[in-house]
Amino acid sequence: MKVTREKLKELMATKLHKAGLTQEHADIVADVLVHADARGYHSHGAMRVEYYSERINKGGTNCNPNFNFQKTGPCTAIFDGDNAAGHVVAKLGMDEAIKMAKENGVAIVGMRRMGHSGALSYFVQQAAEQNLVALTLCQSDPMAVPYGGAEPYYGTNPIAFGAPGKNGENIIIDMATTVQAWGKVLDARSKNKPIEEGWAVDSNGQTTTDPFKVSSLLPIAGPKGYGLMMMVDILSGIMLNLPFGNKVTSMYHDLTEDRNLGQLHIVIDPECFTDLESFKENIAQTMQDLNNIKPATGFDKVYYPGQRSGIREKKANEEGIDIVDSIYEYLVSDVIHNNAYDHKGAFAK
Ligand code: NAI
Repeated sequence: MKVTREKLKELMATKLHKAGLTQEHADIVADVLVHADARGYHSHGAMRVEYYSERINKGGTNCNPNFNFQKTGPCTAIFDGDNAAGHVVAKLGMDEAIKMAKENGVAIVGMRRMGHSGALSYFVQQAAEQNLVALTLCQSDPMAVPYGGAEPYYGTNPIAFGAPGKNGENIIIDMATTVQAWGKVLDARSKNKPIEEGWAVDSNGQTTTDPFKVSSLLPIAGPKGYGLMMMVDILSGIMLNLPFGNKVTSMYHDLTEDRNLGQLHIVIDPECFTDLESFKENIAQTMQDLNNIKPATGFDKVYYPGQRSGIREKKANEEGIDIVDSIYEYLVSDVIHNNAYDHKGAFAK
């Protein structure tokens, strides 16, 4: 069914508030989730509200956190999120990074002790809307093999990058460092269909197309993606003195416990290097150049990163967002689950 962006955001915020978040935090989480749904990343939108609500209800998300923002240098800061909802910590962390980058040209803000922050494009878009370039990266549940390994060590450790173009059109790269999300394997299981070669491995580290034999996901581009996920873990985990590698907590392991995740925002004012107008002009030119590249056989067009999500978002804003009926029914109900997700383990749901 289709729901307007405003209505979907309101339904999600109401449910999250009912589960225990303050209205202010519920509104922020819902804003990040509806951004994901509108841009077509349904895996990080309304479908997560059931899980988040159970976690909030069971105490694994701090609803009354004591945030601590500490400047550690002219351009650096640590934001201790006290295990509040990750979306809130990442958004407020970016607000601070934007202020610092406007004052100093560059800001690096490390967010410690936070929950899952969802689709990272939201945070780099905050910066792009302020004419700033941004990079954000974060830890996630260990479910990917290191290159050559047969057991998981790193998470899907995503990276997002944003740069402002003209007329509110920005380049937004937003990607996990695994070939595919775990959700795609689950989808194949539910449909009893094979997965594509190169997504995942079995318990011997051999690639498999049988979704029921999958024990870990594969990094993008073999050793190169493995290197990227390691970089993410170093910058948003080890450097912030947080659990790292396979010691990072799992989303569904224990919903009463803190996640203690890390995320790092790097924000740069392009005016430190060039004048803003020519920067934005050249970004717009890049977008156009890419769109003008002759498409390969089987492709309709070359898109720049984030373009297709932007098109989906525009359409969703005008026509509403497609939501699975059962998710809508959950959102309008009074239900907060107490045992739907707990102790399922990273690979069980
Ligand atoms: P994806 O594979 O759908 O897209 C990856 C990137 O490729 C995007 O920048 C997209 O704009 C670009 N792209 C895709 N098709 C394109 C095309 N035809 N032409 C040009 N560019 C194209 O995204 P992925 O890796 O599945 O991630 C989905 C979401 O999950 C993201 O929002 C990510 O932040 C989020 N995520 C969050 C995690 C967390 O722990 N917070 C963990 C993992 C992912």
